[in-house]
Amino acid sequence: MKINLVNYIVCPKCYKSFTLKSEKYEKNEIVNGLLICNNGHKFRIIRGIPRLVIDDTTGFVKTEAAFSSKWKKYNKFYHQKNWLLHQQNWFLDRFGWKNLANFNKFLKTRSKILDAGTGIGNSAKLFSTNPKSQVFAIDASESIDFAYKRYGNTSNIHFLQADIRRLPFRKRFFNFICSDQVLHHTKNTETSFKNLTKYLEKNGVISIYVYNKKAPMREFADDFIREHTTTMTEKECVEFSKDMTYLGKVLSQLKKKIKIPRDIPVLKIKAGTYDVQRFIYWYFLKCFWAEDANFERSVGVNFDWYFPKFAFRHTPDEVRKWYADTKTKIVNFKEIESGISVTGKKL
Ligand SMILES: C[S@@+](CC[C@H](N)C(=O)[O-])C[C@H]1O[C@@H](n2cnc3c(N)ncnc32)[C@H](O)[C@@H]1O
Ligand SMILES: [Zn+2]
Repeated sequence: MKINLVNYIVCPKCYKSFTLKSEKYEKNEIVNGLLICNNGHKFRIIRGIPRLVIDDTTGFVKTEAAFSSKWKKYNKFYHQKNWLLHQQNWFLDRFGWKNLANFNKFLKTRSKILDAGTGIGNSAKLFSTNPKSQVFAIDASESIDFAYKRYGNTSNIHFLQADIRRLPFRKRFFNFICSDQVLHHTKNTETSFKNLTKYLEKNGVISIYVYNKKAPMREFADDFIREHTTTMTEKECVEFSKDMTYLGKVLSQLKKKIKIPRDIPVLKIKAGTYDVQRFIYWYFLKCFWAEDANFERSVGVNFDWYFPKFAFRHTPDEVRKWYADTKTKIVNFKEIESGISVTGKKL
């Protein structure tokens, strides 16, 4: 933890300032220590990261445990260069930036950035290009340890283990918040989004990506399967995720296309030509297989879908309403099959 972080954060229980007691320093980093608020609430700094999560309810703990195990198992596959580039391009495209230069120009206008649910920190790194800004990367799971290990030496990124529903910051603190593929994994996507907007200053910008509601048979299958998989042990769910990966792989390797002659409205299937794996994937069953043929990462993607207790899907209208309700003007909206990417400006 960088020493100056104590000036920015507050107690997630009572929102009072912290005093820092450090026990072990290395270079400019506090490796172990204690944060004590003006009301006496104590939070430990362990392995360089302040640990600020206070929610101990079952759904939250199970969801975060799922991500801790996912990232523990698969972190190295998600730090690989080709994946980073692929994710970066996908991010720039979904959020309408088109290219990195445009996004960096925008970042130059942002001084306090929240990466809400950073996972293993790749997005925080992308947001840190302006050295005059401070990037606060938080995640409730142990992924934050992998993020810190990989990017902890970047001078303007702070890593915190914290809950986006109990943020250790003052209201209206940020001028850019990004929560990419995270909010649908919280107890309630809508209230989590609305809570985040309270931490945005006027004219601040908030970008989110949430899962899109899929076609009816796929939704039916997801609900049915997830009822089983979210109560499995981690090991059982990894095995199930491998089954789905093998299935995705063999379907993909068919390299066969089918032609659906006319729309099937009840199933929300559109007439057209589809690759067999893609057709089954989007309309019937999540069986992910990465185009770059990385088996472990594909298992990770399937596991990520089937194991977390919370994984809600939403319609574009729902998302538009959340923005309207919070007086946040939508400036970019993109719906793709998997999800909805939205950027808005707080009025
Ligand atoms: C699918 S990952 C996305 C990570 C990253 N934003 C990305 O785009 O690669 C979702 C992350 O959200 C985190 N998360 C879920 N609920 C959270 C909460 N209430 N507070 C903080 N992080 C949370 C999980 O721990 C997980 O690492
Ligand atoms: Zn306190």
